[in-house]
Amino acid sequence: MDLPNNTPDLHQFDHIVFFTGAGLSAESGIPTYRGKGGIWETYRYEEHACQRAFDKDPEKVWDFHEIRREFISHCIPSEGHKVIAEIEKVKPLTTVITQNIDGLHQRAGSNRVVELHGSLWRIRCDKEGIVYESHKIPLTNRRCSCGAYLRPDIVWFEDPLKEEEIFKAIDAINQSDLFISVGTSAVVFPAAQLPLYAIQKNVPTIEINIEKTLMTSMYQYQIQGTASEVLRKLW
Ligand code: APR
Repeated sequence: MDLPNNTPDLHQFDHIVFFTGAGLSAESGIPTYRGKGGIWETYRYEEHACQRAFDKDPEKVWDFHEIRREFISHCIPSEGHKVIAEIEKVKPLTTVITQNIDGLHQRAGSNRVVELHGSLWRIRCDKEGIVYESHKIPLTNRRCSCGAYLRPDIVWFEDPLKEEEIFKAIDAINQSDLFISVGTSAVVFPAAQLPLYAIQKNVPTIEINIEKTLMTSMYQYQIQGTASEVLRKLW
């Protein structure tokens, strides 16, 4: 796989924003959400990943998330995650805005990570308004000491994004000199608004994906290939 001739040299940019999706973690062995073999093909989100499902059957929703926590705990960051972390070492303003909830960017060594959709590794009690990190598998207790069910600190379908994370993402794009989407179908809003925002701000944009997406033609540069291979060639 060769990079297109006009591809920008990443070394010339100081504040790169990476906007990442499930395609990046696919290379760590984690299934994507859509397409063949996608998570939502096996697990209907209406029963496993929304507040309505949780209110109806919290044990079923927790079982699904425990399977994901267990599976992902055995996965390791891909070459693509590592390249992004390496870039931050040389260009410390590099920021990752991720839709992924697997924590693999942090495990690869990235420090500036905005988790738009939350994290599988944080748990919260909505009754007490507390959030904490937990890597215990399975959880010792699915209920808080106050008696309410704990829930994953994840933005499920129909949940709003956390305002603080949106502000961090917008701030990073405002300061960026290059925006690179990696492995996202960009069909889930409001997250998919972010590449459009970068385009509107005249930030140069690159899309890396194994196939065309609904937004491909809007990016200034499009690179078709796997995240790890393309990122390694770019850096
Ligand atoms: N390299 C690059 N791109 C890849 C690779 C790869 N190795 N493998 C798959 N892709 C691309 C697919 O072509 C697809 O465009 O990754 C994208 C994955 O799309 P989705 O499964 O829709 O994942 P994502 O865009 O991250 O989903 C967004 O949807 O369900 C919600 O909250 C969930 O955060 C998730 C959001």
